[in-house]
Amino acid sequence: MAKRVCVIGTGYVGSVTGAVLAELGHQVTCVDSNNEKIQQFANGPPFPLSEPGLPELIMKHRGKNLFFTTDLPGIISKSEVVFVCVSTPTKMEGIATGSFDMTYVDSVARSIAAHSRGDMVVVEKSTVPLRTAERIEEIFNSVSSPSQRGKFHVVSNPEFLAEGTAVKDALQPDRILVGTRPNDEYARKFMNELYSSFPSEVILHTMIWSSELAKLANNAFLSTKITQINAIASLCDCSGADVTEVSKAVGMDNRIGNKFLAAGIGWGGSCFGKDVRALIYLLRHFNLEAEARFYQAAHDLNYLLRERFVRRIHESLYSLPNKTVAVLGFAFKPNTDDIRDSPAIDIISMLAAEGANVRVVDPEAGHKVKQVYGDKPFAYNILVVESVAEAVDGADAMVLVTDWDEFKNLDFKAIAAKMKKPGWVFDGRNICTPSKVVVSGLNYYGVGRGVIRTQS
Ligand code: UDX
Ligand code: UDX
Repeated sequence: MAKRVCVIGTGYVGSVTGAVLAELGHQVTCVDSNNEKIQQFANGPPFPLSEPGLPELIMKHRGKNLFFTTDLPGIISKSEVVFVCVSTPTKMEGIATGSFDMTYVDSVARSIAAHSRGDMVVVEKSTVPLRTAERIEEIFNSVSSPSQRGKFHVVSNPEFLAEGTAVKDALQPDRILVGTRPNDEYARKFMNELYSSFPSEVILHTMIWSSELAKLANNAFLSTKITQINAIASLCDCSGADVTEVSKAVGMDNRIGNKFLAAGIGWGGSCFGKDVRALIYLLRHFNLEAEARFYQAAHDLNYLLRERFVRRIHESLYSLPNKTVAVLGFAFKPNTDDIRDSPAIDIISMLAAEGANVRVVDPEAGHKVKQVYGDKPFAYNILVVESVAEAVDGADAMVLVTDWDEFKNLDFKAIAAKMKKPGWVFDGRNICTPSKVVVSGLNYYGVGRGVIRTQS
């Protein structure tokens, strides 16, 4: 049976969650405090964010069973379930630095408490600290009217969507994790009905604390797996081994698996850093210092890789002032325009601050370059261009930072003809075939593959 769903927050998580729930047949209204965003979703394209498959789903359901509004009280009062998808950024200073900033979740919980009518399932979709449900319940119990008490059912149903494949991930999930309070049969049944389009074995019911923690654990596993192969890559650079071969060999062990073993300049994005920092905070909160240090080391190594990569470029070019460097990629990964914690930002900042002239090209995120560097003293060193050909024209080096498909089969002969000599390719994602680069007359460095010099 179709449920009346309210999704609060229309970022990557909320907009995909809303559109996919509409695709499952539910009656969905997405709410956001940002009116401009809502207007774009209600009237676009263009939409406020780029995610493959999302525009198609929105166009298919909008005006039928998918709506967009800023009227939070109005829509809460008509809904049976609310998905909380507002931002939970890292708290950057003061008390509890490193943990999630819960300001928005707190304020949304108060609105839900004030405007709900009857039984209401409240789904934590945003990644939240352990035992957030307790905090939300406390708000419900103290803010809602006496007749409404006991009618709230807090559920943890974390998102595992990876940007760029979020719609596909949501429609073909590895698992749908549903954490509920003991004996909350209403919530369990409700969530089973909500997701009844999926085979029942995909739905994993757990206690609510396990579900909250599983999201953090999931991202901790994925991010440290990448960091492990990057640590091995550093050793490859020193020893002559090739990390892509090591990675292949390791990944063929079924127990390890071949995914998330691509070495390079490390992970970015809005989730891994934030979630690992929150996990470290949590461990320290419980005095688990040795465990906290384990994740802290992995976290710090990930960010060190960005600096190392720039040092490598500096070392190879001898000096950076007045050198022209073409940077291919600005998004934190391909198939998205999201630049949050993108390694490209740190890399471009370091290059430009050293005096290099940086030309940036990205198929989707180029327009965000100005937003990031607009007021920086070195901003005049950074230029956004439309094509790889334009970026490499007269350049001393080409630096690959995002593994877009467009950058995977470049015509290095044509590129070398446009670049200065000796020209360099710094492959931060190991997407080039080194032999094709060097045969074109360019020197090559890949992370964990070492330097291969051109013969010509
Ligand atoms: C974010 C986090 O990054 C993720 O870890 C968390 O699990 C869910 O929220 P994302 O969807 O990418 O994911 O975030 P963001 O693009 O910041 O979207 C959040 C939306 O919530 C924004 O559109 C913001 O305007 C909206 N919002 C925020 C509200 O509608 N009300 C608020 O009170 C606060
Ligand atoms: C991640 C999780 O995958 C998702 O389940 C969670 O809900 C949100 O966080 P996302 O951040 O969108 O998703 O992207 P992901 O594909 O995990 O990539 C994260 C970063 O790791 C990117 O910067 C990517 O380039 C990098 N990465 C990924 C590597 O460096 N090597 C790899 O092998 C894989």
